[in-house]
Amino acid sequence: MNFSLSEEHLMIQKAARDFTNDVLKPGVIERDEHQKFPEAEIKKMGELGFLGMMVNPKYGGGGMDTISYVLAMEEISKMDASASVVMSVNNSLVCWGLETFGTEEQKQKYLVPLAKGESIGSFCLSEPEAGSDATSQHTTAILKGGKYILNGTKNWITNGGHASTYLVIAQSNPEKGHKGINAFIVDRKSPGLTVGKKENKLGIRGSDTHSIMFTDVEVPVENRIGEDGFGFRFAMKTLSGGRIGIASQALGIASGAYELALAYSKERKAFGKPICEHQAIQFKLADMATQIDAARLLCLKAAWLKDHHLDYTQAGAMAKVFASQIAMEITTEAVQVHGGYGYVKEYHVERLMRDAKITQIYEGTTEVQKIVISRSVLS
Ligand code: CAA
Repeated sequence: MNFSLSEEHLMIQKAARDFTNDVLKPGVIERDEHQKFPEAEIKKMGELGFLGMMVNPKYGGGGMDTISYVLAMEEISKMDASASVVMSVNNSLVCWGLETFGTEEQKQKYLVPLAKGESIGSFCLSEPEAGSDATSQHTTAILKGGKYILNGTKNWITNGGHASTYLVIAQSNPEKGHKGINAFIVDRKSPGLTVGKKENKLGIRGSDTHSIMFTDVEVPVENRIGEDGFGFRFAMKTLSGGRIGIASQALGIASGAYELALAYSKERKAFGKPICEHQAIQFKLADMATQIDAARLLCLKAAWLKDHHLDYTQAGAMAKVFASQIAMEITTEAVQVHGGYGYVKEYHVERLMRDAKITQIYEGTTEVQKIVISRSVLS
């Protein structure tokens, strides 16, 4: 067993750290306050190769491993979780699904621009009445005259207002239950596709979350991903990897808050000495450092399993449950270490605390992850 990172991994980690400090940090408070999508920053992220990191270079990607992706996600999430969720959805849910299960024609047409960062994608599974209970799809995709006709509404869609390509999960044969579900590639310009209202959120306020409506949207049969009825398994397999991305996002939010608390504790004086010399603060820092190390190891283990083509579903779920839980705890404690300053926006930790919460909800709630883990340990 080797715990050291390669030269290449260290370079990617540094590139992500530099990008975060130079490009993302300067406007992050304003974007959060005004719910402004980081458009120019995401364009730059694409140019640097962070939007299609793991895609084969022959499809315009970076050809990197999942470990590199975890390292980059952690660095970017330390300061801007709104930008890192764009990156996570594009890499894990959209590019990975297309590269793994798409046809050559689908890859050339849709994956290449997504991997190059020329366009971004969305993953449309959740519905007003199908969140955790994902088999309960009400959106229909009925085959008629050689085309699928899509009708329904998707909710809480990340990148919803800025995506050019949507991967849409819909029910084609209700009598077959989850075996009737299909996944489709849907072009933003399709007549009948409407981008609904933008959600006004607690955290990740710079990210773009919308409902998407489909009214008699025609989708060619060649835009179905995989065989008829593969859509639910497609969604589950894709989300297994997506959860490694969100676990890394939670890890980054936690480690960003910890680094800020550590630095502040060395500067701020109380009772005649820096607060880091008080045991009350030292024990908080010790707990944070320990939790972060454990979360990082879980994320890297899940990534390593994926890179070695071993089953990573349980490991990814464990990483997500743990990292998102410690992200909530550590960001809350980081605000506490900062005292009154922690409660105001300039010190970043209150934003990280608000951003942490979503990591316990999207791409499968903590409770859903525990279903996945318990089924795995009992099987
Ligand atoms: N890989 C492959 N196949 C899988 C799988 C996996 N990881 N998990 C389940 N399946 C298969 C099962 O084998 C089963 O197939 P068979 O009937 O052929 O055996 C089929 O899928 C149905 O599985 P279950 O019986 O386990 O289904 P369930 O109704 O009990 O649901 C669940 C299981 C784990 C709760 C699932 O519904 C789930 O993960 N729900 C959460 C959905 C989710 O994560 N939503 C997030 C939205 S996306 C998002 O947030 C993106 C964003 O914008 C940030």
